[in-house]
Amino acid sequence: MEVRCLLTGVAGFVGSHLAERLLALGHRVIGVDNFATGRQSNMDSFWSHPNFSFHQRSVAEPGLIEELSHLHPGMRVVFHLAAVVSVPYSVSHPEETMAVNHLATLQLLSDARRQGFGVFVFAGSAAEYGTDSRLPLREDYAGADTYRLSPYGESKYLASCEVGSSQAPCGIALRFFNIYGPRQDPSSPYSGVISRFAEMGCRQEPLTIFGDGQQTRDFIYVSDAVDAYLHAAGIDGKNSPNPVPAGIYNVATSVPTSIQELANLIREFTGNRQELTFSPERPGDIRHSVADIERLHLESGWTPRISLRDGLRQTLTWVQSSGTIRS
Ligand code: UD1
Repeated sequence: MEVRCLLTGVAGFVGSHLAERLLALGHRVIGVDNFATGRQSNMDSFWSHPNFSFHQRSVAEPGLIEELSHLHPGMRVVFHLAAVVSVPYSVSHPEETMAVNHLATLQLLSDARRQGFGVFVFAGSAAEYGTDSRLPLREDYAGADTYRLSPYGESKYLASCEVGSSQAPCGIALRFFNIYGPRQDPSSPYSGVISRFAEMGCRQEPLTIFGDGQQTRDFIYVSDAVDAYLHAAGIDGKNSPNPVPAGIYNVATSVPTSIQELANLIREFTGNRQELTFSPERPGDIRHSVADIERLHLESGWTPRISLRDGLRQTLTWVQSSGTIRS
C-alpha cells in the first residue's frame, strides 16, 4: 500500500536518503526544503521520480501543512527533519534556532493533528543529553534540568518532549547519535568528524585530532538511521502505517569508537601514511557518548546492521567518486 509522506529537510544529508528509500518502497514523498543547508544535488537520484513532489518552503511558514494537504490529499505520515543543524550556528543565533527547531515543530505537530495525520516522526539529537556522563545513555536521562551545551540541544529536547507525548498523531522523537555516510558535507570545521576525516584521508592529508583522541562516539551509518525511521513509523511497504507507541527513542549502534581508532581505520582504508596531528581539545566537547538502543529494538525489531568498517568503506567510495577530492 502506498503511504503518502510529508518529508521536511528532504534536500539534507539524511532527508535525501530517507526520500530515496521511501520512493524505492513505492511510497509517495512530498518533500520540503528551503536550502538553508540542504542541497539540490542531494536530490539528483530521485528528482524526476513520478511519486516525488518538491516545495521550496521553510517549515517556519504558518499554514504550510494545511496548504500542502490541499495540494496533496491523503498524506498520513510526517517525517520532520528540517532544522537549524549546526551547533555553533545555534550558539550565535539562539532565537532563530528556537523558532525553527522548537516552535515550528510545535506548529507543524498541531497542524498535522488538525489535518488528521496518523504519525509524526521527529529528528531529535544526542545533544539533548548534554553533559550527562551516565553511560549508556537512556532516553529518560534527558530531563528539564539536564545541562545542555547549546540552543541546538535545548531546542531539540523541548521539541522531542512535545512530539513524544502526542497520541494523535502518534508522535515519535528519534534521538540520533552521530550519523555518517555519503552526502554528509565535510566543508565546515564543525562538520561531523567522519566526513572531515574521510575527505582529508582521501586527499592524503594528515588527520587532525582535537584532544587526545581517546574520546568516544556512537557512530551510526545513514542507512541504519533510515531503517529506524521506517521501523518507527511502521512503514514496511505492505500495510498501512503501524507505528511504535508514541515516545522518545535513541537511534545509535551502542558501540563506542574512539576518535583515534576511527582516524586509524580511515588511514588504513585510504592508504594514508601521514602521521596523525593533535590539536587542543574542542571547547565544550563531551568526553564519551554511547546510547542504550533497547527501546526501539523492543518496540519495532529495528537493529543497526552496518558495521563501522563497512559504513566507512561505503562513505570513502562516495567521497572518492563525488568529485570533491582534488589531487
Ligand atoms: C556534535 C556536534 C558538535 C556539538 C556536540 C554537542 C556535529 C557535527 N557536531 O559533536 O558541534 O558541540 O555534538 O552535543 O554535529 N574531531 C576531531 N577532529 C576533527 C573533527 C572532530 O578530533 O576534525 C573530534 C571532536 O573533537 C569530537 C569528535 O571528533 O571529540 C566527534 O566530533 P563531531 O563529529 O563534531 O561530533 P560531536 O562531538 O558528537
